[in-house]
Amino acid sequence: MGDLNYIFEQNETWRQRITTEDPHFFETLANQHAPEILWIGCSDARVPANQITGLLPGEIFVHRNIANMVIHSDLNALSVIQYAVEVLEVKHIIVCGHYECGGISAALDSKDHGLIDNWLRHIRDVIRFNSEELALFSGEEYAMRLTELNVIEQVNNLAETTVVRNVLHSKRELTLHGWVYSVHTGKLTELCKIAD
Ligand code: CO
Repeated sequence: MGDLNYIFEQNETWRQRITTEDPHFFETLANQHAPEILWIGCSDARVPANQITGLLPGEIFVHRNIANMVIHSDLNALSVIQYAVEVLEVKHIIVCGHYECGGISAALDSKDHGLIDNWLRHIRDVIRFNSEELALFSGEEYAMRLTELNVIEQVNNLAETTVVRNVLHSKRELTLHGWVYSVHTGKLTELCKIAD
């Protein structure tokens, strides 16, 4: 009990299955890192980028944080975005939120969550920006609509980063997508799109 040996065993099974299907898979990947998509998603364990999109290792560059936020002063997210856009030259950036998000729920209750309340303030801002529309909803539907509005807000934040603005004003192809994922059904839905 308590050890993680089963993960190493699963890794070995997975590695062998992949190399049986394609003997050069890892060798090819080792020599190139050229994903066309950057994924900005929630850290929630139920929303793993590769599995829910059916993409293989090498196909999607991933950044995850609580409630899939793009904050103007977050050097971690901004560094990932800069690397993805300027070095990897990704063609798409997806911000993906999900229903039943703990970050959204925590922003909605009045409890003290400690440090993370500072992060969740940004979701409170989304509530303030959209107070008229959100007044039409209550209960679970309120949380669901806030989840969607938060994704749209983060896509707008992404479009306003210096790195993305430079590309959107150039001839290079870059499309920003806002998606939401249902942990109940496993379904992805598009909410918004910004193309240059
Ligand atoms: Co979440």
